[in-house]
Amino acid sequence: MPITAVIGVHWGDEGKGKVIDYLVEKGYDAVARFNGGPNAGHTIYPNGQKVVLHVVPSGISYPHVTNIIGNGVALDPQLLLGELTDVRNAGADLLNLYISDRCKVITPYHKEAEKQSPINRKIGTTGKGMGSVYSSHTARITPLLSDFLRSHEHVTALLRELDEELGVSEKLRAEGHDALDASKIADDYRRMIDQFSNNVTDTTYKISNMLRAGSKIIAEGAQASLLDKDHGTYPFVTSSNSFAGGISPGLGVPPNTITETVGVMKAGYITRVGGGPFPTELGNEATLKEEEAAIKANGKIKRDSTYFRDLESAAKKGYLLPKEMGQYLRIVGDEFGSTTKRPRRTGWPDLVATQYSDMLNGFTCLALTKLDVTDFVPEIPVCTGYKKDGQVFKNFDPMYLGDYTADSGLIIPGWMKDTSEIKEFEHLPEEARRLVEFWERIAPVRLISNGPGRGQTIFRE
Ligand code: IMP
Repeated sequence: MPITAVIGVHWGDEGKGKVIDYLVEKGYDAVARFNGGPNAGHTIYPNGQKVVLHVVPSGISYPHVTNIIGNGVALDPQLLLGELTDVRNAGADLLNLYISDRCKVITPYHKEAEKQSPINRKIGTTGKGMGSVYSSHTARITPLLSDFLRSHEHVTALLRELDEELGVSEKLRAEGHDALDASKIADDYRRMIDQFSNNVTDTTYKISNMLRAGSKIIAEGAQASLLDKDHGTYPFVTSSNSFAGGISPGLGVPPNTITETVGVMKAGYITRVGGGPFPTELGNEATLKEEEAAIKANGKIKRDSTYFRDLESAAKKGYLLPKEMGQYLRIVGDEFGSTTKRPRRTGWPDLVATQYSDMLNGFTCLALTKLDVTDFVPEIPVCTGYKKDGQVFKNFDPMYLGDYTADSGLIIPGWMKDTSEIKEFEHLPEEARRLVEFWERIAPVRLISNGPGRGQTIFRE
């Protein structure tokens, strides 16, 4: 089994980092990122220290594991340097990090173009230049990492072409601002890239050689299947292929080398960040905006506050309005973006969306995360169909999902017990086991995460 894909089932933030950590311990030789860029955030805890990774693969804290940033990834050199410093400060070394010479490079032109484009505000992007860097790559004008290792003249010329195609400086000038200085950017980028140029290589050959030598490789997905640019809820998607189909172009490996695909999803709820349809959402974008404004004014609600204690006691009795239940799950699950800090939208599980994601990815097994977050919820309504015009549909309509409402065809009773210290599946409350077994209609559940700690994991082999 040469490549095991680890893929988010829904709209991201499912907890892929922890699952990869577990797999690495089981004996994988490499972790390779194949898509996305600094829009992602994967949290790891090397030597007990919290590090948020954006493009560096989640195996970086293991010296014996090769970590590869594949050609499908978009890099912002300045952000990467910050990330490499965090990794080093946490005691991990970078000798086992290989960065593809064909990574797409996010430049100030891409970031400015994203700022200038109204569509990015509508989608609620992470603001990292993803749409612009990938679309310019498709238009064949995004410079790649190896370009920056060539002469100053070469880089300056590429940047000027990019500027002209994107019309960035033209717009800046029209608005009375200074144009961007290609020569200065070329120098700045060279200085930054020189600091990690020893890690830059042809990762396609590197991976191919590893596969030939019989190495076991994890392909680490960023974002998740329903944010995929081709099969997700377009246009409310990211700009790369974030389902398992993105691995072959994103790493340069034959599709038949991917023999296992682990789908990672939250056990008892779903989250989404940014705009776009979300049929099982608890509350809506307007109520979330109110909450976001309150957080800005007063800070995040603490678990030991009177407000939270009241919310929790009403949740246990089943007295919460949908938007309050959404807030409860957000606080208990600490559902705030690791990259943007934005509060995540929360909603009940969605079988139709999960089946659609399985249809795209062909999951060979599932990893369920954050089981403990729904420990004190009296019931978990599961969406088993979508309602529109008095009819119920069983298909996922990615582009017009917003026209449907959720049909909660199944109510799984809550278990109202703390599961966070349980180590064996058999010791879970019966209702929690029922939820796990419910998801087995998709694929066998091999791992259940019941807390953020490494030890808070239940395995089912
Ligand atoms: P972009 O990837 O920054 O262009 O953002 C496009 C959409 O994908 C927005 O709705 C983002 O909130 C969402 N998105 C991008 N990266 C992540 C992620 O890592 N987790 C969850 N949502 C993400």
